[in-house]
Amino acid sequence: MQIDPNDHNPQLIYQLMTSVIVPRPIAWVSTLSRDGVLNLAPFSFFNGITSKPPLLSIAVSRRRGIRKDTAHNASSTGQFVVNVVTEPHLDKMVETSADHPPDVDEFASVGLTPIDSVVVKPPRVAEAPVQLECLTQQIVEISPGIVDLVIGEVVMFHLSDELPVDDDLRVSAAALRPIGRLGADEYTTLGDIKRVVRPTPG
Ligand SMILES: Cc1cc2nc3c(=O)[nH]c(=O)nc-3n(C[C@H](O)[C@H](O)[C@H](O)COP(=O)(O)O)c2cc1C
Repeated sequence: MQIDPNDHNPQLIYQLMTSVIVPRPIAWVSTLSRDGVLNLAPFSFFNGITSKPPLLSIAVSRRRGIRKDTAHNASSTGQFVVNVVTEPHLDKMVETSADHPPDVDEFASVGLTPIDSVVVKPPRVAEAPVQLECLTQQIVEISPGIVDLVIGEVVMFHLSDELPVDDDLRVSAAALRPIGRLGADEYTTLGDIKRVVRPTPG
């Protein structure tokens, strides 16, 4: 089967892409509006870009041409926090994806605890074992009026004291228990972890 995206409605192509680009990590992004309203929402068109400087990207699609609160706040305040979604918080993460008006604080509506960040103003999700404080590096309007690619620089990493971290700063994935997003309303947990050593030159 071959699928030419030009022959199909973009909604179908969305379903195709999100069911074959799997599993995707989920950024649970906390922001503050300029008026001080807290916001929290999940994004799975998310990944790291590079480590020097430590950059990550989140593709935030627009709603009927209007920026979602996350992109609006990351742009107007220049700050956000990426909280890593782990098994115990799957249901709450999904609850925070509801299409609330900008004055709704999703921390309060789903019962999560905001704790102060160290560098940025938006708080972290206390329940998340990994939190990345970010400054908005740039926002690229990829497809004008359709999606904003928010690029952030991590200025502080927070790891729970309960997470095993080795001397090389590698965190145990098995202990982290991240959630990955599949297509539609499906999610996955880690299966078997395989270790394969890369070939050395020569
Ligand atoms: C697991 C998950 C992943 C999501 N990923 C994205 C994404 O990558 N981009 C996006 O625009 N919306 C994504 N959404 C939808 C947003 O979370 C949703 O539109 C949310 O209401 C945005 O909130 P905001 O207006 O407070 O920013 C996702 C939803 C879920 C449940």
